[in-house]
Formats: sequence, structure tokens, C-alpha cells
Amino acid sequence: MAGKEVSVLLLLAVLGCGSGGKVLVWPADNSHWLNMEHILQELVVRGHEERELPIWEGAYKIAQKILQMKNITKMICDGVVKNETLMERLRASTFDVLLADPLSPSGELVAEKLGIPFVYTFRFSMGNTVERLCGTLPAPPSYVPTTLTSLTDRMTFWQRLKNILSYTLQDFIFHYVLWASWDQYYSEVLGRPTTLCETMGKAEIWLIRTYWDFEFPRPFLPNFEFVGGLQCQPAKPLPKEMEEFVQSSGEHGIIVFTLGSMVYNLSDEKSTVIAKALSQLPQKVLWRYKGKKPETLGSNTRIYDWIPQNDLLGHPLTKAFITHGGTNGLYEAIYHGIPMVGIPMFADQHDNIAHMVAKGAAVQVDFNTMKTQDLVDALNTVIYNSTYKENALKLSKIQHDQPVKPLDRAVFWIEFVMRHKGAKHLRPAAHHLTWYQYHSLDVLAFLFICTATIVFILFKCCLCCCRRCGRIAKRKKE
Ligand SMILES: *[C@@H]1O[C@H](CO)[C@@H](O)[C@H](O)[C@H]1NC(C)=O
Ligand SMILES: *[C@@H]1O[C@H](CO)[C@@H](O)[C@H](O)[C@H]1NC(C)=O
Ligand SMILES: *[C@@H]1O[C@H](CO)[C@@H](O)[C@H](O)[C@H]1NC(C)=O
Ligand SMILES: *[C@@H]1O[C@H](CO)[C@@H](O)[C@H](O)[C@H]1NC(C)=O
Repeated sequence: MAGKEVSVLLLLAVLGCGSGGKVLVWPADNSHWLNMEHILQELVVRGHEERELPIWEGAYKIAQKILQMKNITKMICDGVVKNETLMERLRASTFDVLLADPLSPSGELVAEKLGIPFVYTFRFSMGNTVERLCGTLPAPPSYVPTTLTSLTDRMTFWQRLKNILSYTLQDFIFHYVLWASWDQYYSEVLGRPTTLCETMGKAEIWLIRTYWDFEFPRPFLPNFEFVGGLQCQPAKPLPKEMEEFVQSSGEHGIIVFTLGSMVYNLSDEKSTVIAKALSQLPQKVLWRYKGKKPETLGSNTRIYDWIPQNDLLGHPLTKAFITHGGTNGLYEAIYHGIPMVGIPMFADQHDNIAHMVAKGAAVQVDFNTMKTQDLVDALNTVIYNSTYKENALKLSKIQHDQPVKPLDRAVFWIEFVMRHKGAKHLRPAAHHLTWYQYHSLDVLAFLFICTATIVFILFKCCLCCCRRCGRIAKRKKE
């Protein structure tokens, strides 16, 4: 049953591109798909095959449905790689490249099985494990913070200790818990001993969905492209009724508020606290919220099921953005230079907000302990202390002032891989080294042994000399 849906999905995902090039897409979940969709649309535009576009929405819905099921990745995988008819059909379609997100494994397995190059697009993996261990991306733990720690690039001794321990812990979890069963599966399917990590490491290009406006400066490899903000676009006009509400705010301006599509309902207590805080502000507030209308909702606040977030953030009257810290929303705020109040809840959101706080463009509020006054204070700070707006504008300029736009870079590298059947010239030789060779531990051990031997011999010689001298002196005395 799953196999059938999958084959539908994959066959829909056949996309004409450029000069007869074909892209095969491995489905990713929710917000990850959003970014891939932008790249795909651009690829379609360049290949003049717009008629394929509506198909994408269908494919997306099916992908979502499938991904909601448990154990699903393996089932998808089985449904594809173990279905010879389907594999034969895919092979006959001669794809030039496969696009995948390493967070939904199996894309790379299908690519390997079909013998086509693949490109990854993603934000990060837990502990950056996939990038570091499989992609050999260097991450010195002294100044590259790992994920889920909310650390920044400036760490005290104890924070660096925490960073190293959490890298180690996350590596351990990946190696022994998450990857173990996949290694066997991959070896079985490919018919040779291999591991999930080794297969992932074969990605030609890694498109990372952050950029230096968001990321802390860090070392990277030539096959890593940082394309954060590729989905950002100038604001379009608002719907008439919304524009009237926005204009009614006058000189005070508006606040845009969303906790993301994952949070439909807040507890009554929380929504009351939030609504009360918002009601005390002179600004008008547009709140994306699907739950029950709080009793304390002020006349300056309007609740919407959905808001055109990018268009609102790009509106000249927008003063602040209250966000849960999803990467897509943050990038829209960076693009338009809007200071933020972050209320992170789960996953990478704490890290994302920590980045924005460190760059001076956001204030963080703790969701669990938040009082009315905390939210009011945070909003007043980002709106009336001009440093936050200035820092947000600085990030915006970094995002806008690039030699080549992120979307164009992403598309360029995908097309490069299609034209040249890979990008092997960018692949570091680190992939051929063992972990102790990579860290030069064998060389260090050798040098250590040499040094120790020399020191030992010198020591013995000295001892010998001393004894002999001692004996001669003794004889002379006698
Ligand atoms: C997932 O798959 C494994 C092996 O196919 C099976 O043993 C396990 O019960 C499945 N788990 C769930 C939650 O379906
Ligand atoms: C294998 O793929 C073909 C072609 O997509 C499909 O018609 C068939 O139902 C699949 N078989 C299984 C067992 O899923
Ligand atoms: C939201 O809360 C209402 C009542 O409090 C409940 O009926 C509804 O199912 C909840 N919706 C979601 C998506 O949790
Ligand atoms: C504005 O915020 C910055 C950074 O937090 C702080 O150093 C500065 O003192 C604040 N200015 C005022 C006037 O509060």
C-alpha cells in the first residue's frame, strides 16, 4: 500500500529541467520542503516547463501524508529500492541528479542504486553529525557550537566543555542508536559492505540553508554552499482589509506575531498572558493563531488563521516580529531588517534565537515562565532601543549584498552537477582517512614514540657517563 503511494510520488517528481536535464526529488517533510520547492520552481522556470508546477503541490501533500506514518522512511525505501519494476522505470528515465534532505534518509540510497549523483539541501543535522562525520565538514569545538545547546561562538571554559561533551554524546547516539540498523540495510540493498554515513558522504554538493547573516563564521569545505534566505522575496501588497488595519496604526506601526504552524493551541493561561501583554502596546498587532480567542484580547490585536508573513514583514510600518524561531520566519525577518522577540519552544528554535540574540537583533523570552510584563518589556526594548533595529538592518544588508543571490547559487550548483555528472573536484580527501589519520593521531603517536626513545637513550647515556665519571673519580681518590 505504501509502496504504491510512493511510486506515485516518485513518478510525479520527475521534472524536466534545462536542456533536457531531469531532476529526481526525494520527498522531505514540512518546512524542509518549502525550501526545496523554491529551488525546484527556479529550475522549472529555467527549463521552461511551468506546466509541471501544479504537480508539486500534489506531490507535497502525498509526501506529508506519508511522512506522518510511523516507520515510514524504511517503508518508503523498501517500496522503492526493492521494487524492481519501479527501479527499472527510474533507471530508464535517466535522471541527471537527485535532490534530497539527509534528514529523511534513503534519497542517497536510491541515487546510489540508480548510479546518479545527488545533492543535499538542508539546514543542519542534530549535533551537525551528518555534516561533520559524513560530509567531513570541520567543526572545531572551541568556537563552533553544536546544536541544541543554545551556545554561541564565544564560549567560556565550561561552555566549551559542554560543547565537546554534547558533540560526543550526539555522535554516540547517531552511531550506535540511529544509524546502526541503517548500516545493515544499506549494505544489504547495495550488495556490498557500507554504512549510511559513507553513502551520505557521497553527496556532490551540500546546500546549507543558512548564511553569514545568521551563522557564526566557521570553516567550511568547497562543496558546501551556504544558501540561507533563498526563499526570501520582496513584499507584495497586503489584502485590502489588512492594509487598512495596518494603516490605522499610524506612527506607532505594527507587530507581526506567529508561533508557527506547529502551534495551533496555547493553554488558556498562556494565551491570556500574551493577549494582555499585547493589549498594553500602542502598536497594532497581527497575530496568527488558530486557538480559542483569549478574553483579554485588546482592541489593537487581530487574530488571523493565516497571515501573509513575508508581505507583512516587508511592510514599512512593521516594527517588530514575535516568532518561535523557525528558520524560514527568521530569514524573512532578516531579509526585511525587522528586530525580533523570540519565544522558542522546541527543536532548533532555541539555537536559532540564540544566534539572533548574539547578533543583537533579538530579545528572547522564556515561554514557560513568561509573564505579561516580560513580553511587554521585550517588545518595548526591540522597538524603542534603536540598536536592535540597526543590527537587524545590518543583517539585512549582509543578506542582500551578495555577489550571487542564494537561489541562483543553489541552482547553479545543481545544474553544475547535472552538466558534469558530479563535482568530484570539490571532494576532500578526508573521506579516505580513518578518524585517527584525520586527526594525525598516528603521526603524533609516532613522533611521541621517537621523542620518548631519544630522551630515553640520552638519559641512559648520561646515567652511564655519570657512573663512569664517578668510578674514575673514586679510583683517583684511592
Ligand atoms: C518498525 O519496523 C521494524 C522492523 O521492520 C518493526 O520491528 C517495528 O515494530 C516497527 N515499528 C513500528 C512502530 O511500526
Ligand atoms: C512497483 O512499482 C510499480 C510501478 O510503479 C507499481 O505499479 C507496483 O505496484 C509496485 N509494486 C509493489 C509491490 O509495490
Ligand atoms: C484546540 O483546543 C480546542 C479546545 O481547547 C480543542 O477542541 C481542539 O481540538 C484543539 N486543537 C488542536 C489542533 O489541538
Ligand atoms: C540598548 O540595548 C543595548 C544592547 O542590549 C544596550 O547596551 C543599551 O544600553 C540599550 N540602550 C538603552 C538606551 O537602553
